[in-house]
Amino acid sequence: MAFIDGKEIAAGIKERVAAQIAALPDGVVPGLATLLVGDDYGAAQYRGQIERLTTKSGFHYVDARLPATATLGEIHAKLDRLTADPAVHGILPLRPFPDGVGDEAVIDRLPPEKDIDGFHPDNLGRLLLDAPRLIPSTARACLVALDAAGVDLKGKEVVVVGRSATVGKPVGLLCMARHATVTTLHSRTRDLALHTRRADVVIVAIGRPRFLTAEMISDGAVVIDVGINWEEYTDADGNKKGRLVGDADTDGCAAVAAAITPVPGGVGAITNACLLENTLAALRLQDGGRRGRADSR
Ligand SMILES: NC(=O)c1ccc[n+]([C@@H]2O[C@H](COP(=O)([O-])OP(=O)(O)OC[C@H]3O[C@@H](n4cnc5c(N)ncnc54)[C@H](OP(=O)(O)O)[C@@H]3O)[C@@H](O)[C@H]2O)c1
Repeated sequence: MAFIDGKEIAAGIKERVAAQIAALPDGVVPGLATLLVGDDYGAAQYRGQIERLTTKSGFHYVDARLPATATLGEIHAKLDRLTADPAVHGILPLRPFPDGVGDEAVIDRLPPEKDIDGFHPDNLGRLLLDAPRLIPSTARACLVALDAAGVDLKGKEVVVVGRSATVGKPVGLLCMARHATVTTLHSRTRDLALHTRRADVVIVAIGRPRFLTAEMISDGAVVIDVGINWEEYTDADGNKKGRLVGDADTDGCAAVAAAITPVPGGVGAITNACLLENTLAALRLQDGGRRGRADSR
């Protein structure tokens, strides 16, 4: 069994990104903005990761924020300012949004060419039409992990557990585009293990800690674990602690699988690096980033 090392894969992507930045015309700097609404712990952590990653990678980073009380109109106004900023090539609104503000109402406001998470209907529609432009970064990260593990998807049975528009559905489309036979499972699937056991590749993205167990996969399967779950536990000295765990029982599955992505250090690390690549792709879709900076915070 091999662990698919997301950190190493991400390092390779970052090297490619650095080479692409070095090749940009003088004065052109890729710019990424996050929009954090409120103070959700997970979203705030993710924002911090993106800030560290972008600034280390030579990107211009804009930290846009709104209070948890922000209305949809205020969120739209902030997105409009980021959209108008020529130094911002990619915009990443961080979910969750305030109660009563639907994801679609926020994402629809983004210009598709600045939608670096690939969630705008235009970008998802292009994926459906096999003409992708900006691809959801987590779905793309799963494919990057499979490529790194040397998995040729042609003709393979791929089972995707989870059908969200942000992970499950796009990753299924990407696998289908590589000529895999794809089955999508969800919370109403009867006898889920019947499907996962016959899969060459299981991609699990459901947000349920350690859900996929060794008994649910076949010998030699490849497991891509997208899940990021916070698990509290008590250590040997009786102290309460927390740790990140995936949607798969990593150790159990590792004993059976040919390869598996760990959590942390798997898909999540690759996803962040893919965001950098998506920002460069967004820059190319725009005007080459030749215009100057404006303060859109
Ligand atoms: N690594 C990364 O970069 C990254 C990025 C994004 C998300 N994530 C993680 O990936 C996980 C999924 O994220 P998401 O945004 O796709 O979640 P989501 O929008 O909540 O969707 C969860 C999906 O899982 C299905 N599901 C839930 N419980 C199930 C069960 N017991 N059996 C079968 N299917 C079940 C749901 O089915 P129904 O449709 O029937 O409700 C739904 O389709 C989360 O842990 C999230 O933190 C990781």
